[in-house]
Amino acid sequence: MSSDQSFPDGFLWGAATASHQVEGNNVGNHYWEWEHAPDTPFAEPSGDAVDHYHRWREDLDLLAGAGLTAYRFSLEWSRIEPEPGEISRASLDHYRRMVDGCRDRGLAPVVTLNHFTTPRWFHHDGGWLGPRAGDHFARFVETAAPLVRDAAYVLTLNEPNLAACLPVLAGMAARGEPVAGLPRPDQRLSEALIAAHRRGIEVLRGAGSPPAGLALVGQEWIAEDGAGEQMAAHRAAMEDKFLAACQGDDFVGMQIYSCARIGPDGPVTPPGTVLTQAHVEYRPQAVGASVRRVAEVLPGTPILVTENGLATTDDDERITFTAEVLRGLHAAVHDGVDVRGYLHWSLLDNFEWFSGYAVTFGLIGVDRATFARTPKPSLEWLGQVARRNGV
Ligand code: BGC
Repeated sequence: MSSDQSFPDGFLWGAATASHQVEGNNVGNHYWEWEHAPDTPFAEPSGDAVDHYHRWREDLDLLAGAGLTAYRFSLEWSRIEPEPGEISRASLDHYRRMVDGCRDRGLAPVVTLNHFTTPRWFHHDGGWLGPRAGDHFARFVETAAPLVRDAAYVLTLNEPNLAACLPVLAGMAARGEPVAGLPRPDQRLSEALIAAHRRGIEVLRGAGSPPAGLALVGQEWIAEDGAGEQMAAHRAAMEDKFLAACQGDDFVGMQIYSCARIGPDGPVTPPGTVLTQAHVEYRPQAVGASVRRVAEVLPGTPILVTENGLATTDDDERITFTAEVLRGLHAAVHDGVDVRGYLHWSLLDNFEWFSGYAVTFGLIGVDRATFARTPKPSLEWLGQVARRNGV
């Protein structure tokens, strides 16, 4: 570190997206089908999203032009393997061009192999709980491995610890119930996703991959009065089990938005809590707290903050929040936590899953009729942080 206020040399500053949330018309995956089901929990379908599939060059120009140094995006499995074993060369070429396009602009590519969406055929074969899930995923990772060879980091799965909560979360969304906090993950899904991650890492290692790991949702854990044991049990299922599965990986990606307050009966939101547009507590200090704990549980494993951001329509608030996040992160790094980069969620306003397009996390706004991009002041602000390598 060159000065007290700066981050280590080579620290990555970037922004993140995920295929289904930005590309548009991912008709072959199971989310598309789910969005169009009669009893869908989605506020609206993803449709054209923000047409990043065609406009990615313009988007990377804006990111690199602002001064950022990394871009995280995901591969859309349903485009690459539309039917079991049937590989689309054109789709592979598309993502290869994106990896090269990052490098050409001085952006370190951080590639997620799977960010929640799976091909419809995989879903109808039982999804992650299906008998062939591990084999299907291993074959996909083998197919994708050559194109991510030039990435800076590769993530097998996005937030399996959140994906394992989806059955409960989807039910709540369908009934319009407010989500007080993330429920405990389903055990069978947790095991299946962890097994898929391990298979993925094995295949990547055999293929000579760049540093490979997993992205987990991380939280600051807070026990309400007398609920220490409940909090520890919740945390064990949601975080510790998954961190244990990252033992020996090259790094761990942490995606931290808020805290988890656990009371005797599970997650609680005390009256008067300030909530973001995404209905989670406004809690910038969660990032520093989470990475400090991860460093204790998984000593020796570098951390990349692969997502953090704020759902808001007020861009000044986004800047205030992110500045506080980064001060907390800097303090953790200063105290010896090995954090290698910070990737903001998200590059673009995009399809926020069950909430649709009303919830906005982007550094860049998008007109959904014309797809015109309007960078927000927060993009320039984060670019300046990147250029200074400090807040
Ligand atoms: C996910 C993103 C999502 C973001 C904001 C993360 O859990 O990886 O896909 O949009 O949080 O809710």
